[in-house]
Amino acid sequence: MAEAVPVVTIDGPSGSGKGTVAAEVARRLGWRVLDSGALYRLTAYAARQAGVDFDDAGAVAAIARALPVEFRDGRVLLDGEDVTAAIRTETAGNDASKVAAIPEVREALLQWQRDYARPPGLVADGRDMGTVVFPDAQVKIFLDASAGERARRRHKQLKEQGIDVNLPGLIAEIEERDHRDRNRSVAPLKPAPDAEVIDSTRMSVEEVVDLVLGRVAKAFPGVVT
Ligand code: DC
Repeated sequence: MAEAVPVVTIDGPSGSGKGTVAAEVARRLGWRVLDSGALYRLTAYAARQAGVDFDDAGAVAAIARALPVEFRDGRVLLDGEDVTAAIRTETAGNDASKVAAIPEVREALLQWQRDYARPPGLVADGRDMGTVVFPDAQVKIFLDASAGERARRRHKQLKEQGIDVNLPGLIAEIEERDHRDRNRSVAPLKPAPDAEVIDSTRMSVEEVVDLVLGRVAKAFPGVVT
């Protein structure tokens, strides 16, 4: 069944730049954006707050099903608390990767993610957007970059926020998270068979955005001006 609403999926490993690219592509098109990683980050954060063990799949899934989340003016509110920065830490990312390996959690978040697809269109960023959540998306991108380059980008981002972490440690963490995301039994990180794989190691954000917009223009004539 074809998607009724135009959907562009951008999947890839941590630090590939997909979040930045997805946000900019959505802005240029005037479409909605789904940051699916935020849902896993929020689930893990809420589970921690509630003292729920990540091994308790049923309890974590119950939290995912009833997340009291609100996205308002670029801020993320969890039960009224501004958690925008709290869910962006490296620990939150690692926690997210752990709860994301729980099949019941993925199931709990599936319909919610699909409901984001509303006119005029959606740019969905994650790990399984093209494979599981929006298998009929008309444009599928898998954005990759070398682990070293991804760690360097993340390092720069953290430094800009005044957070100093050591680069070798960051590379090790990114590799560990990738390994978990690629090897889990449900919805592992991998390109959809019909996705275009882009290696952004030597590309700027603008170059990647232009490339994606080019694919959108081809798939939906008249949409990109
Ligand atoms: O994109 P991100 O770094 O915010 O994602 C955090 C973690 O959430 C990532 O390590 C794996 C998981 N995730 C997922 O399993 N499926 C998605 N669609 C998005 C994120």
